[in-house]
Amino acid sequence: MAVSSSFFKALVAAALMAGAGVAWGHGNVTPQPVDTGALPDLGTEALMENPFREGNEHGDLNAKAIEIGKSGYAGNCAGCHGIEAMSGGLTPDLRELTEWDDEYFIGRVMNGTERGMPSFKNSLNQTAIWSIRTYVESLPKPE
Ligand code: HEC
Repeated sequence: MAVSSSFFKALVAAALMAGAGVAWGHGNVTPQPVDTGALPDLGTEALMENPFREGNEHGDLNAKAIEIGKSGYAGNCAGCHGIEAMSGGLTPDLRELTEWDDEYFIGRVMNGTERGMPSFKNSLNQTAIWSIRTYVESLPKPE
């Protein structure tokens, strides 16, 4: 997956310089609730595939999911992963993930990691998380 070791070195170096644990250095770190509007409640058991991708179970709601995911992303992820998912190199570029990474994606977002990625299990429901995934998928891939 798209995390390079140089990324970790940079992150560790930054944390050491800050004299603290991994710093939530930039951006808004307070989770922002996402109004999932008319999208279906997907329950709590993690799905292994983005249901809002075209051709999947709720693929007809793709455009709506992109719209909701856009604001969900801006409020919860952009602070670290960059505006429109242009990461700038300090965090993984989420546009690099492919559709085969769905299971990995939901796991990361629900559980977080020990290296500076918070868990969103208690702040975002699955509908919101897959909407964010759908939004990121709608963005142009990095050059
Ligand atoms: C406080 C900063 C921060 C916030 C906020 C944040 N992330 Fe992350 N995220 C990270 C860091 C740092 C990593 C790399 C951590 C690691 O690999 O252990 C990461 C990794 C990831 C990964 C794994 C990517 C890969 O290529 O391995 C996914 C997926 C992800 N984040 C999605 C999200 C989503 C979606 C949101 C918003 C709901 C979000 N993140 C909010 C910091 C953040």
